[in-house]
Amino acid sequence: MIDIHCHILPGLDDGPETLEESLALCRAAAADGIRTIVATPHYKPGAYEWSGPEVLKTLSLLNTAVAAEGLDLQILPGAEVAVFPELPSVLEAGGPLMLNQGIYFLVEFRPHAIPANSEAFLASFLDSGLIPVIAHPERNAWFANHPEVLFPLVRRGVLLQITAASLTGGLGPQARDFSGYLLRHNLAHVIASDGHNLDDRPVALSKAVALAADLVGEERAVTMVTTVPEAILAGRRRMVIQPLEHALPEEVRPPSLFQRFVRGIFR
Ligand SMILES: [Fe+2]
Repeated sequence: MIDIHCHILPGLDDGPETLEESLALCRAAAADGIRTIVATPHYKPGAYEWSGPEVLKTLSLLNTAVAAEGLDLQILPGAEVAVFPELPSVLEAGGPLMLNQGIYFLVEFRPHAIPANSEAFLASFLDSGLIPVIAHPERNAWFANHPEVLFPLVRRGVLLQITAASLTGGLGPQARDFSGYLLRHNLAHVIASDGHNLDDRPVALSKAVALAADLVGEERAVTMVTTVPEAILAGRRRMVIQPLEHALPEEVRPPSLFQRFVRGIFR
Protein backbone atom coordinates (compact mmCIF):
# COMPACT_ATOMS: atom_id res chain seq x y z
CA MET A 1 0.00 0.00 0.00
CA ILE A 2 0.98 3.63 -0.54
CA ASP A 3 0.33 6.35 2.04
CA ILE A 4 0.43 9.82 0.47
CA HIS A 5 -0.21 11.82 3.65
CA CYS A 6 2.00 11.22 6.68
CA HIS A 7 3.91 13.39 9.15
CA ILE A 8 6.84 11.01 9.36
CA LEU A 9 9.90 13.30 9.23
CA PRO A 10 11.45 14.25 12.58
CA GLY A 11 11.61 17.78 13.87
CA LEU A 12 9.79 19.62 11.07
CA ASP A 13 6.21 19.90 12.34
CA ASP A 14 3.85 18.37 14.92
CA GLY A 15 4.84 14.82 13.95
CA PRO A 16 7.75 12.91 15.52
CA GLU A 17 10.49 14.94 17.18
CA THR A 18 13.40 12.50 16.86
CA LEU A 19 14.71 10.05 14.30
CA GLU A 20 13.97 7.21 16.71
CA GLU A 21 10.31 8.29 16.95
CA SER A 22 10.14 8.44 13.15
CA LEU A 23 11.58 4.95 12.92
CA ALA A 24 8.95 3.63 15.33
CA LEU A 25 6.26 5.00 13.00
CA CYS A 26 8.02 3.38 10.02
CA ARG A 27 8.00 0.00 11.78
CA ALA A 28 4.27 0.33 12.46
CA ALA A 29 3.61 1.33 8.83
CA ALA A 30 5.57 -1.61 7.45
CA ALA A 31 3.76 -4.00 9.80
CA ASP A 32 0.42 -2.70 8.44
CA GLY A 33 1.49 -3.47 4.86
CA ILE A 34 2.53 0.04 3.77
CA ARG A 35 5.47 -0.01 1.37
CA THR A 36 5.63 3.65 0.29
CA ILE A 37 5.06 6.77 2.39
CA VAL A 38 5.03 10.34 1.17
CA ALA A 39 6.41 12.54 3.93
CA THR A 40 4.06 15.51 4.10
CA PRO A 41 5.23 17.98 6.76
CA HIS A 42 2.90 20.92 7.26
CA TYR A 43 3.83 24.02 5.28
CA LYS A 44 2.02 26.95 6.81
CA PRO A 45 3.61 30.43 6.74
CA GLY A 46 4.13 31.75 10.25
CA ALA A 47 3.82 28.28 11.81
CA TYR A 48 5.74 25.69 9.78
CA GLU A 49 8.20 26.79 7.15
CA TRP A 50 11.11 24.76 5.87
CA SER A 51 13.28 24.67 2.78
CA GLY A 52 13.38 21.99 0.08
CA PRO A 53 17.01 21.04 0.85
CA GLU A 54 16.13 20.71 4.55
CA VAL A 55 13.33 18.23 3.76
CA LEU A 56 15.49 16.22 1.36
CA LYS A 57 18.31 15.99 3.91
CA THR A 58 15.97 14.79 6.68
CA LEU A 59 14.32 12.37 4.26
CA SER A 60 17.68 10.91 3.30
CA LEU A 61 18.60 10.37 6.98
CA LEU A 62 15.32 8.55 7.60
CA ASN A 63 15.53 6.40 4.46
CA THR A 64 19.07 5.39 5.45
CA ALA A 65 17.89 4.39 8.93
CA VAL A 66 14.91 2.49 7.47
CA ALA A 67 17.19 0.56 5.12
CA ALA A 68 19.63 -0.19 7.95
CA GLU A 69 16.75 -1.83 9.84
CA GLY A 70 15.86 -3.90 6.80
CA LEU A 71 12.33 -2.49 6.55
CA ASP A 72 10.64 -2.87 3.15
CA LEU A 73 9.62 0.77 3.06
CA GLN A 74 10.46 3.80 0.93
CA ILE A 75 9.83 7.40 1.93
CA LEU A 76 9.31 10.08 -0.71
CA PRO A 77 9.20 13.88 -0.42
CA GLY A 78 6.06 15.98 -0.22
CA ALA A 79 4.15 18.48 1.89
CA GLU A 80 0.75 19.34 3.28
CA VAL A 81 0.27 22.96 2.33
CA ALA A 82 -2.16 25.31 4.02
CA VAL A 83 -4.27 27.68 1.95
CA PHE A 84 -2.72 31.14 2.00
CA PRO A 85 -2.94 34.01 -0.49
CA GLU A 86 0.57 33.61 -1.88
CA LEU A 87 0.19 29.86 -2.49
CA PRO A 88 0.01 30.19 -6.31
CA SER A 89 3.32 32.00 -6.37
CA VAL A 90 5.20 29.45 -4.23
CA LEU A 91 3.87 26.28 -5.88
CA GLU A 92 5.72 25.05 -8.94
CA ALA A 93 5.63 21.70 -10.73
CA GLY A 94 8.50 19.59 -9.44
CA GLY A 95 9.04 21.86 -6.44
CA PRO A 96 9.40 20.84 -2.79
CA LEU A 97 5.74 21.48 -1.97
CA MET A 98 4.50 18.97 -4.55
CA LEU A 99 3.83 15.27 -3.83
CA ASN A 100 6.95 13.38 -4.94
CA GLN A 101 8.02 16.66 -6.57
CA GLY A 102 5.48 16.12 -9.33
CA ILE A 103 2.27 17.86 -10.41
CA TYR A 104 -0.08 17.00 -7.50
CA PHE A 105 -0.16 18.87 -4.18
CA LEU A 106 -1.89 18.09 -0.90
CA VAL A 107 -3.82 21.11 0.34
CA GLU A 108 -5.38 21.58 3.75
CA PHE A 109 -8.24 23.92 4.65
CA ARG A 110 -8.91 25.20 8.14
CA PRO A 111 -11.24 22.84 10.02
CA HIS A 112 -14.37 24.98 10.27
CA ALA A 113 -14.34 27.31 7.29
CA ILE A 114 -13.08 27.62 3.78
CA PRO A 115 -12.31 30.94 2.09
CA ALA A 116 -15.19 32.35 0.04
CA ASN A 117 -13.52 31.99 -3.36
CA SER A 118 -12.05 28.52 -2.79
CA GLU A 119 -13.66 26.86 -5.81
CA ALA A 120 -12.17 29.40 -8.22
CA PHE A 121 -8.90 29.36 -6.25
CA LEU A 122 -8.54 25.58 -6.66
CA ALA A 123 -9.68 25.62 -10.28
CA SER A 124 -6.97 28.17 -11.10
CA PHE A 125 -4.30 25.60 -10.21
CA LEU A 126 -5.84 23.10 -12.62
CA ASP A 127 -5.63 25.72 -15.34
CA SER A 128 -1.89 26.01 -14.69
CA GLY A 129 -1.35 22.22 -14.74
CA LEU A 130 -1.10 21.60 -10.99
CA ILE A 131 -3.64 19.22 -9.44
CA PRO A 132 -4.94 19.81 -5.91
CA VAL A 133 -5.62 16.88 -3.62
CA ILE A 134 -7.81 18.16 -0.77
CA ALA A 135 -6.63 16.67 2.53
CA HIS A 136 -9.37 15.12 4.70
CA PRO A 137 -12.43 17.15 3.60
CA GLU A 138 -14.49 14.84 5.83
CA ARG A 139 -12.98 16.58 8.86
CA ASN A 140 -14.05 20.02 7.67
CA ALA A 141 -17.36 21.12 9.17
CA TRP A 142 -17.99 23.54 6.32
CA PHE A 143 -17.66 20.84 3.66
CA ALA A 144 -19.86 18.55 5.77
CA ASN A 145 -22.58 21.21 5.76
CA HIS A 146 -22.08 22.11 2.09
CA PRO A 147 -21.14 18.87 0.32
CA GLU A 148 -22.62 20.21 -2.91
CA VAL A 149 -19.50 22.36 -3.47
CA LEU A 150 -17.37 19.22 -3.78
CA PHE A 151 -19.23 17.84 -6.80
CA PRO A 152 -18.14 20.51 -9.32
CA LEU A 153 -14.59 20.47 -7.95
CA VAL A 154 -14.31 16.71 -8.46
CA ARG A 155 -15.84 17.03 -11.93
CA ARG A 156 -13.11 19.55 -12.76
CA GLY A 157 -10.38 17.12 -11.65
CA VAL A 158 -9.65 17.99 -8.02
CA LEU A 159 -8.98 14.84 -5.97
CA LEU A 160 -10.10 14.20 -2.40
CA GLN A 161 -8.10 12.32 0.24
CA ILE A 162 -9.92 10.85 3.21
CA THR A 163 -8.12 9.90 6.39
CA ALA A 164 -8.04 6.30 7.58
CA ALA A 165 -8.89 7.24 11.17
CA SER A 166 -12.01 9.06 9.96
CA LEU A 167 -13.35 5.81 8.52
CA THR A 168 -12.50 3.81 11.61
CA GLY A 169 -14.26 6.33 13.87
CA GLY A 170 -11.08 7.53 15.61
CA LEU A 171 -11.77 11.13 14.60
CA GLY A 172 -15.39 11.24 15.75
CA PRO A 173 -18.83 10.51 14.31
CA GLN A 174 -18.99 13.46 11.92
CA ALA A 175 -15.74 12.49 10.20
CA ARG A 176 -16.83 8.84 10.08
CA ASP A 177 -20.27 9.58 8.63
CA PHE A 178 -19.08 12.17 6.11
CA SER A 179 -16.24 9.95 4.88
CA GLY A 180 -18.90 7.30 4.20
CA TYR A 181 -20.95 9.90 2.31
CA LEU A 182 -17.92 10.84 0.19
CA LEU A 183 -17.19 7.22 -0.64
CA ARG A 184 -20.76 6.38 -1.57
CA HIS A 185 -20.98 9.43 -3.86
CA ASN A 186 -17.74 8.59 -5.67
CA LEU A 187 -16.18 11.74 -4.24
CA ALA A 188 -13.20 10.16 -2.45
CA HIS A 189 -10.14 9.07 -4.39
CA VAL A 190 -7.42 8.23 -1.88
CA ILE A 191 -7.25 6.88 1.68
CA ALA A 192 -4.18 8.05 3.63
CA SER A 193 -3.12 7.87 7.27
CA ASP A 194 -2.31 11.50 8.17
CA GLY A 195 -0.17 9.74 10.77
CA HIS A 196 1.60 11.80 13.42
CA ASN A 197 2.41 9.43 16.30
CA LEU A 198 1.92 5.91 17.65
CA ASP A 199 -0.91 6.80 20.00
CA ASP A 200 -3.89 8.69 18.64
CA ARG A 201 -2.77 9.40 15.04
CA PRO A 202 -1.18 6.16 13.83
CA VAL A 203 0.34 5.28 10.47
CA ALA A 204 -2.06 2.55 9.34
CA LEU A 205 -4.41 1.95 6.41
CA SER A 206 -5.55 -1.68 6.41
CA LYS A 207 -8.55 -1.37 8.76
CA ALA A 208 -9.85 1.66 6.88
CA VAL A 209 -9.54 -0.11 3.52
CA ALA A 210 -11.58 -3.02 4.89
CA LEU A 211 -14.28 -0.60 6.06
CA ALA A 212 -14.25 1.24 2.72
CA ALA A 213 -14.65 -2.13 0.97
CA ASP A 214 -17.93 -2.61 2.84
CA LEU A 215 -19.18 0.64 1.28
CA VAL A 216 -17.80 0.60 -2.26
CA GLY A 217 -16.54 -2.93 -2.82
CA GLU A 218 -13.08 -4.35 -2.28
CA GLU A 219 -11.74 -3.65 -5.76
CA ARG A 220 -12.41 0.08 -5.60
CA ALA A 221 -11.30 0.38 -1.95
CA VAL A 222 -7.95 -1.19 -2.78
CA THR A 223 -7.35 1.25 -5.66
CA MET A 224 -7.48 4.07 -3.12
CA VAL A 225 -4.22 2.88 -1.53
CA THR A 226 -2.58 1.40 -4.63
CA THR A 227 -3.23 2.48 -8.22
CA VAL A 228 -4.64 5.95 -7.52
CA PRO A 229 -1.76 7.08 -5.24
CA GLU A 230 0.66 5.38 -7.63
CA ALA A 231 -0.66 7.54 -10.49
CA ILE A 232 -0.34 10.64 -8.31
CA LEU A 233 3.30 9.87 -7.50
CA ALA A 234 4.07 9.14 -11.14
CA GLY A 235 2.50 12.46 -12.17
CA ARG A 236 -0.06 10.81 -14.45
CA ARG A 237 -3.10 12.94 -15.12
CA ARG A 238 -6.24 11.25 -13.97
CA MET A 239 -9.44 10.99 -15.93
CA VAL A 240 -12.07 13.06 -14.26
CA ILE A 241 -14.20 10.73 -12.17
CA GLN A 242 -17.87 11.53 -12.21
CA PRO A 243 -19.38 11.85 -8.77
CA LEU A 244 -22.67 10.06 -8.17
CA GLU A 245 -25.57 12.42 -7.44
CA HIS A 246 -27.36 9.54 -5.75
CA ALA A 247 -25.29 7.55 -3.31
CA LEU A 248 -24.52 3.90 -3.68
CA PRO A 249 -26.94 1.92 -1.54
CA GLU A 250 -25.76 0.74 1.85
CA GLU A 251 -25.62 -2.78 0.49
CA VAL A 252 -22.79 -2.78 -2.01
CA ARG A 253 -23.51 -3.87 -5.54
CA PRO A 254 -20.59 -5.04 -7.64
CA PRO A 255 -19.76 -2.32 -10.18
CA SER A 256 -20.75 -2.82 -13.79
CA LEU A 257 -18.08 -3.05 -16.46
CA PHE A 258 -18.91 0.53 -17.49
CA GLN A 259 -18.59 1.81 -13.91
CA ARG A 260 -15.24 0.05 -13.57
CA PHE A 261 -14.07 1.69 -16.78
CA VAL A 262 -15.16 5.16 -15.68
CA ARG A 263 -13.71 4.80 -12.17
CA GLY A 264 -10.43 3.19 -12.91
CA ILE A 265 -8.83 4.35 -16.11
CA PHE A 266 -5.85 6.69 -16.27
CA ARG A 267 -4.43 8.35 -19.26
FE1 LIG B 1 -1.75 16.12 7.87
